[in-house]
Amino acid sequence: MGHNLGRQEFGDPKNKGNVLSREDANSLLNDWVKNDRLRLHMKQVAYLMKKWAGEKEGLDDAGIWSWEMAGLLHDADWDQWPDQHCSLIIEELEKRNIDPEIIHAIASHGPDYFGVEPVTNMDKMLFAFDELSGLVHAYSLMRPEGYAGMELKGVKKRLKEKSFAANVSRDDINNACSRAGVQLDDLINFIIKYQGEAG
Ligand SMILES: [Fe+2]
Ligand SMILES: [Fe+2]
Repeated sequence: MGHNLGRQEFGDPKNKGNVLSREDANSLLNDWVKNDRLRLHMKQVAYLMKKWAGEKEGLDDAGIWSWEMAGLLHDADWDQWPDQHCSLIIEELEKRNIDPEIIHAIASHGPDYFGVEPVTNMDKMLFAFDELSGLVHAYSLMRPEGYAGMELKGVKKRLKEKSFAANVSRDDINNACSRAGVQLDDLINFIIKYQGEAG
């Protein structure tokens, strides 16, 4: 699941506001991530970040894209270099002079693994969406209707079944919700509402 990054500072403050173009972000994603399932996961998290930034944070287009970009690239090095997750993507974004806020969000998406605490709302929501998004997607795959008609109570039942999507950490989900100050039910409903449109 990656390793302790051994540092707390990411990027250079003078790069504030610097982002990749959508085209460059997509080519980085496609170059680095060969696994379709992982690419879909990253696109789903990106879409949730985008929707949250617009709807709940009321950000402008530039702000929304920075949230989306953090989601889109958070696991970029996981496919080919899992032992170095997520230091390679961090170094790559530093080399490209990207906004430290985006890099910090990526660096804190697994505080227990990377040793970096989520601080900003962008950090906290990336952490919160990451695991829960995967569980909801796994649930959609076992439903003949996919996301259509999916209900909160169905997701909560799967959450209680430890054997379902067993690699998804229930502790991380609860931890992330309390850090973000978001009710678990609200977060699940948000994912149900939007995740089917992603990818
Ligand atoms: Fe990750
Ligand atoms: Fe992830």
